[in-house]
Amino acid sequence: MNKQIKVADKSYWVGYVDDRKVPFHRLILEKGTTYNSYLLMTEKPTVIDTVDISFGRQFVERLSQYIKPEEIKFIIINHVEPDHSGGLPALASKAKDAVIVTTELGAKELKEMYKLHNRKFLIIKDGDTLDIGGKTLKFFETPYLHTEETMIAYCIEDKILYPCDIFSSHVATYDLFNDLAKEDMIPDFEIYYKLIMHPHRPYVQDMIKKVKELDIEVIAPSHGYILRNNAQRFVDSYDEMSKASDEIKKALIVFSSMTGNTKRIANHIANALGEKGIVTDIIDANDKVNIDEVKEAIINADAIFFGSSTRYADMVGKLEDILKELKNMDLESKLAVAFGSYGWSGEAVEVINDYLNNTNMKLIDTSYMIKKTGMEDMNFPIRIKFNPGDEEIEKITRSAQVIGDLLIS
Ligand SMILES: Cc1cc2nc3c(=O)[nH]c(=O)nc-3n(C[C@H](O)[C@H](O)[C@H](O)COP(=O)(O)O)c2cc1C
Ligand SMILES: [Fe+2]
Ligand SMILES: [Fe+2]
Repeated sequence: MNKQIKVADKSYWVGYVDDRKVPFHRLILEKGTTYNSYLLMTEKPTVIDTVDISFGRQFVERLSQYIKPEEIKFIIINHVEPDHSGGLPALASKAKDAVIVTTELGAKELKEMYKLHNRKFLIIKDGDTLDIGGKTLKFFETPYLHTEETMIAYCIEDKILYPCDIFSSHVATYDLFNDLAKEDMIPDFEIYYKLIMHPHRPYVQDMIKKVKELDIEVIAPSHGYILRNNAQRFVDSYDEMSKASDEIKKALIVFSSMTGNTKRIANHIANALGEKGIVTDIIDANDKVNIDEVKEAIINADAIFFGSSTRYADMVGKLEDILKELKNMDLESKLAVAFGSYGWSGEAVEVINDYLNNTNMKLIDTSYMIKKTGMEDMNFPIRIKFNPGDEEIEKITRSAQVIGDLLIS
């Protein structure tokens, strides 16, 4: 299919329409998808995003219908995942002098993935602009939409937003503009949001704040429809779908500690959750603790953090008496997280996890979090050596924030 798809003056779609039903982020793309790449034929010709790694050759062929690849000056990589950066090796091997434009983390990942250590990179920071000779691109960092390194590009003169995964939909068609859709495309747009973006909801709100400042006539994402009819409604739709629900969520932290280190972790968790608007109680499971009251508090909470330091390879205080009660309680749909300070081996946290595994709570571990959020830089349970220092406090805070996001999503 060689139909020319023009997005604006001197701007063309050079993507690939993939009508296979392929598995993608645990969902089958029943309607296929497209990988939208864009060529801006300015004085310094620029490509925005590429296509899936399987279609690099077809991508360069399509691009070559417009321009000699070696004339390309900039290749913008908004998002490193291989469904968008996958055409980069094929393109870069022809466009030998092109500068690769991406975030700092994006550059690091691309160099590793495609052995591009000797290429020229331009590192983008939030709000940077790039003159491509006749058009100007402005960039915004949008971490976790869809992965950590992600940014988006806005062409000031054309009033076009190039947000990569954001505002996408999975549908395979050459009738790529939303006003040409043969059936209502809103359900596909919303399903995409729910599956890919909603788990990162707070980041969607951060992105909306940046995008609301822009005058946008067209949204040209990297999957599915280019939104030129009423682009603003799609921004409003993301805003609406990502807003916090009114329901107040509750967390409970139950811990035992010998010298206060685990207590300090508990306090940092409570602070981070509090900042997310989650009502958080802390119970010290010392000798005076009332087990029935703790059980009551557990039943009333949506997420429960169980913490203990390690003493002779075991837990301390009365925590174990509480954990023993859990297997007889109905705790379905509650989140459970283990944490604790330790000195060298840290068995207590593992024993807590063993108990939690025997309940019907959703135990948070690293593998669960990667599947749920795509974030790989996070480790659960939360284990801290001795007294948490600045770096550990940061780690505790981030971990608790992510749990908070899960609770309110
Ligand atoms: C009597 C005693 C026994 C300990 N045994 C262990 C152990 O078996 N494994 C380990 O990793 N740390 C062990 N530790 C280290 C503590 O877990 C560590 O100091 C921790 O930071 C204490 O946290 P807390 O103040 O919350 O109790 C032990 C500490 C003490 C005082
Ligand atoms: Fe992605
Ligand atoms: Fe994607």
